[in-house]
Amino acid sequence: MYLYPKWVRLWHLINALLFIILIITGVSMHYTGNKGMIGFAEAVKWHNIAAIILTANYVFFILGNALTSNGKYYKISRKNLFSDLKVQFRYNSYGIFKGEKQPFPVTMENKFNPLQKFTYVLAMYAGMPLLIISGIGLMFPDITVKRFFGVSGLVLVDFLHISMGFLLSLFMIIHIYKCTLGSKP
Ligand code: HEM
Ligand code: HEM
Repeated sequence: MYLYPKWVRLWHLINALLFIILIITGVSMHYTGNKGMIGFAEAVKWHNIAAIILTANYVFFILGNALTSNGKYYKISRKNLFSDLKVQFRYNSYGIFKGEKQPFPVTMENKFNPLQKFTYVLAMYAGMPLLIISGIGLMFPDITVKRFFGVSGLVLVDFLHISMGFLLSLFMIIHIYKCTLGSKP
């Protein structure tokens, strides 16, 4: 049996391609004063289209994890959580460069190492919902609160959106770097 079932591969391919489109169009909108990489109207159009498909694809991922055994890899147990994270962090930042053995080898029961699991849960169950909810808030500004403690609700939603977009883009860069690592250079 594969550790990465077909539906996870399909979800992931669509997700990665859409992320690239969303980053290019998002950054274009943000720096639109400098003409951006593409025009503002085009950037908004493609950002909206990619965002809607990404949201549907995210629902597909959540349902897939809820209805299949893949969901078990995302369950964090509090037992030894911090000590396991420390062991993996030490390996990632030191042991791997000294040729040490993986502290948590991949098995059918444990597809992800503790740090990988922690960041995947954070990205998929905290970062993505906040990115999508704030994106929907920008798409339909009428549904956002007008003012929050004297500050414009839309500015706060925009700040949340840009922050989540930035953090998840950072996650993606580290994620791609980590995926290129193996036992040989
Ligand atoms: C071009 C961009 C990307 C590449 C090349 C890439 C590569 C990979 C690879 C090789 C794996 C399998 C190894 C592993 O589990 O660590 C993986 C899994 C995964 N990636 Fe990515 N990734 C990309 C973008 C993203 C993005 C944007 C997200 C989410 C925001 C993401 C989330 C995940 C998750 C959650 C898994 C585990 C899926 C599962 O087995 O349940 N990836 N990725
Ligand atoms: C990798 C994912 C994403 C990134 C990096 C990203 C980034 C950005 C950035 C930088 C802006 C410009 C905001 C500003 O400069 O004030 C923006 C605007 C926006 N984003 Fe995203 N975003 C992402 C995903 C999404 C998603 C999932 C949605 C909806 C569900 C969404 C909906 C919107 C909307 C509606 C706008 C405002 C467009 C306008 O000005 O009319 N975005 N995004």
